[in-house]
Amino acid sequence: MTPRRVIIDCDPGVDDAIALLLAFASPEIRVEAITTVIGNVPLARTTANARRVCDLAGRGDIPIHAGCARPIMAPTDRGSSVHGGDGLGDIGLPEAAGPPEPGHAVDVLIDRLRAAPGEITLCPLGPLTNIALALVKAPDIAPLIKEIVFMGGAAFVPGNTTPAAEFNLAIDPHAAQIVLTAGAPLTMFGLDVTRKALIAEDWMARVEAERGPRARAAIAMIRSYGRKDACLHDPCVIAHLLDPSLFEGVAARVSVECESPLTRGQTIAAVSERHRGGLPATCQVITGLAHDRLFTLLAERIARLD
Ligand code: BDR
Ligand code: CA
Repeated sequence: MTPRRVIIDCDPGVDDAIALLLAFASPEIRVEAITTVIGNVPLARTTANARRVCDLAGRGDIPIHAGCARPIMAPTDRGSSVHGGDGLGDIGLPEAAGPPEPGHAVDVLIDRLRAAPGEITLCPLGPLTNIALALVKAPDIAPLIKEIVFMGGAAFVPGNTTPAAEFNLAIDPHAAQIVLTAGAPLTMFGLDVTRKALIAEDWMARVEAERGPRARAAIAMIRSYGRKDACLHDPCVIAHLLDPSLFEGVAARVSVECESPLTRGQTIAAVSERHRGGLPATCQVITGLAHDRLFTLLAERIARLD
């Protein structure tokens, strides 16, 4: 089996951290690089947190590149409080041992995609700023991307940051619109599906009781975060790479509202031919998951960390 080559662009973030750990524990996936972006916490913190998670998993070999410290159009002071003061649930995870690798995330994305045409899957788990700027700086990379599987948006359900917008798209709607119209194959894990990845107390207790120190640290993060957000959003993206049969969805043409102050960051998913105006679908919008099978997979992979 040749592992799938991925770059994870993220803003850790507890659920980002669990997504990273799931990828590290899965031989079907090779994480070629991690790129970081502002989101749940400021960029310096998301970057340090990516390193802390790699250190926890003994994966100091994976290069981490810091990216954009603000969204494209408007700076934001909107962090997410659900991830704790340090962004990883304040469980006392050791601080990052070293700085990120040199090279801005945007340039690294461009270089790596050009070096491996059709090979690399991008997994954005935070605001889409780095991916969008890479596409703006180097439009030739769009057809080189194998697939973009991202967490963000809310096609048929309310937002979690405003009534209309999910957090990652609320932070940088313009970036999302650039990515959604770039022409690369897209799979969207919005709140439609990730709100169904509900964390159960008995699942946490089971994993915590049976497993080693890394698994216990993962559960400690989830436990802290789970008091404020009940769902594991970002790991769904990685789980989809491992077993797409866990999920179902619909093909749609997805656009992002960038103007209206009331609905900025809203994803508009046109499913029917009529709503698409005869234009093709651009994105697979995931809407459903097999909950118990997903959490069995998560438990099994988290156990492999130790
Ligand atoms: C998204 O927002 C962040 O808080 C999570 O990490 C996830 O990527 C969910 O709306
Ligand atoms: Ca995230």
